Amino acid sequence: MVKFALPRKSKVTEGKTWPKPGSATETREFKVYRWNPDDDENPRVDTFHVDLHECGPRVLDGLIWIKDHIDPTLTFRRSCREGVCGSCAMNINGQNTLACTQSLHDIPGDAVKVNPLPHQPVVKDLVPDLTNFYAQYASIEPWLKTATPTPQKEWRQSREDREKLDGLYECILCACCSTACPSYWWNSDRFLGPAALLQAARWVTDSRDEATGERLDYLEDPFRLYRCHTILNCTKACPKSLNPAEAIATLKLKLVERQV
Ligand code: SF4
Ligand code: SF4
Ligand code: FES
Repeated sequence: MVKFALPRKSKVTEGKTWPKPGSATETREFKVYRWNPDDDENPRVDTFHVDLHECGPRVLDGLIWIKDHIDPTLTFRRSCREGVCGSCAMNINGQNTLACTQSLHDIPGDAVKVNPLPHQPVVKDLVPDLTNFYAQYASIEPWLKTATPTPQKEWRQSREDREKLDGLYECILCACCSTACPSYWWNSDRFLGPAALLQAARWVTDSRDEATGERLDYLEDPFRLYRCHTILNCTKACPKSLNPAEAIATLKLKLVERQV
């Protein structure tokens, strides 16, 4: 059975400092959160020294170098290494972002501090359990819903209506925004969070969708939508420069408009 830990609530101890690679002439210190569900140890922070002449320029390159050269048990998610799959989201020096697009040169100070996304259960090391996050995404029914019979060819959309989806369709579901949101930290069982709400706005905005009323009914709830208090952490955190707070405001406005 998989066990989970809450990274910020468990006592995190100083972990192992791995020796510097002997042949390296320039290294960067990485302080990496570790937790293994298969032992009874507390989470710890291990220190590694990455050979900068052997690894690429991003934080993900450093983690892959550590895994390849020092500790093959270091566990993290990644796939595209191009900022399009969203799987390498983690907290780097206090900021939620994508490890594959975060340049090492842009991180001030000596150490690169890498933690899992905050306030989520941890599966292992840097891998958060996003089961609830994905279930919330599924709950907004992220697909085109229509009553009109399916056309012979494609569902047509004007250029202007298509442009209304800009700033919404680009979301890669990395969870940087939701896990940066204080309202989500405390109410993630009932508040949908900025990522799922931005996706909800994407379908409410789509001119081809014919379930707008049903979608707004689902959102009109003191927790699902209205736990957003416009703190704007979400917008600051988004590595794709999207604006979930604005999308949430759009949903609130649509709910007001349908009452007048
Ligand atoms: S604007 Fe809303 S969703 Fe975004 S961080 Fe603030 S409370 Fe959370
Ligand atoms: S809105 Fe931005 S931060 Fe949030 S899940 Fe989408 S891409 Fe990630
Ligand atoms: S590996 Fe795909 S976004 Fe980073």
